[in-house]
Amino acid sequence: MAAGAITPEAAGGPSTNGREPLVRVDDLTVDYRNDDQWVSVVKDVSFEIGRGETLGLAGESGCGKTTTALAMFGYHKPGSRVAGGRVTFDGRDLLGLSDRQMQPIRGSRISLVPQNPASTLTPSMKVGRQVVETLEAHGVSSGSEAMERTVEIFGQVGLPEPAEIARRYPHQLSGGQQQRVVIAIAIVCRPDLIVLDEPTTALDVTTQARLLELLTQIKGDSGMSALYVSHNLGVLEQICDRVAVMYAGELIEIAPTAELFNQPRHPYTRGLIAAVPRVEAEHAGTEKLRGLLRRDDLPDGCGFAPRCPYSRPQCFTDPQRLDEIEPSHQVACWRAPDIEAESEATR
Ligand SMILES: Nc1ncnc2c1ncn2[C@@H]1O[C@H](COP(=O)(O)OP(=O)(O)OP(=O)(O)O)[C@@H](O)[C@H]1O
Ligand SMILES: [Mg+2]
Repeated sequence: MAAGAITPEAAGGPSTNGREPLVRVDDLTVDYRNDDQWVSVVKDVSFEIGRGETLGLAGESGCGKTTTALAMFGYHKPGSRVAGGRVTFDGRDLLGLSDRQMQPIRGSRISLVPQNPASTLTPSMKVGRQVVETLEAHGVSSGSEAMERTVEIFGQVGLPEPAEIARRYPHQLSGGQQQRVVIAIAIVCRPDLIVLDEPTTALDVTTQARLLELLTQIKGDSGMSALYVSHNLGVLEQICDRVAVMYAGELIEIAPTAELFNQPRHPYTRGLIAAVPRVEAEHAGTEKLRGLLRRDDLPDGCGFAPRCPYSRPQCFTDPQRLDEIEPSHQVACWRAPDIEAESEATR
């Protein structure tokens, strides 16, 4: 099996409770065209999302989070191609579907809140009408019934005076209110999966916190699954059941949230956690990250080796694969067992 891949058994985790997971990603590889060459920016990524589970996807800018999340939506950016792997949603192979076959699934069974959500609203259309059109497009409801449902969902996502808001244009709303409208559109057809790509990045801290509360509540009420993409581990800690960490296109660690924060095992995860100011867990990483992810200078072995305080010559040459070190906790670092002891000794 290729580097970065995990066995289906290992990927299951406690959240799937022995049931078939809602989403299964197997060895996903996505390339972008760079001049005359195809370059892999997501490499052999495998994970699962259980029913009702929120999985976080973390990692620095450019590591491939959005590319991975879009594949979940059966979608890839222009100039890219899925070079390998499979995405299975509720038993269906999504990557094998045409755009036309995918259309009824998008919005009704899987919803996307993209990286710049406000830009997805149509500026010239009242926001209430935009929700009504979503309901009509998926045959959920129409006319006055759809408008009633719109006002109801606006109330549920915490918009004040929902009937009044429904009559406004996007530019008449604050950034936080626009965000709530986008989330209302994403959940109004009660999808099984919502994919959120950095949905709070553009918001102030208070609005971010309110939005995270809202998402936790929606998840509790509806049993929806979520893939929550963020470079901010502090945010993921608040909302996710498990967190997967990517580096340079590969998955390098995946674990239940509390375990990842208390016992991060990959040096990169340790560095990311050390950069979260309010994490005070006893075993959290203490080594701050140095340097930046440089895709033009990746070794054949572990992509993180050039920045890793624990790397050995072997790390630069030998590809790493995810291995289970605890039940439901996988890490792609052959040195992981030694590192905890080594850093304890130098503390
Ligand atoms: N349209 C494109 N053409 C060529 N390369 C691209 C394109 N879009 C993204 N890439 C490259 O693919 C890699 C992964 O990009 P992606 O947008 O998935 O990263 P990300 O983790 O979501 O980053 P961010 O946190 O900045 O949103 C990056 O190295 C990026 O330069
Ligand atoms: Mg992104």
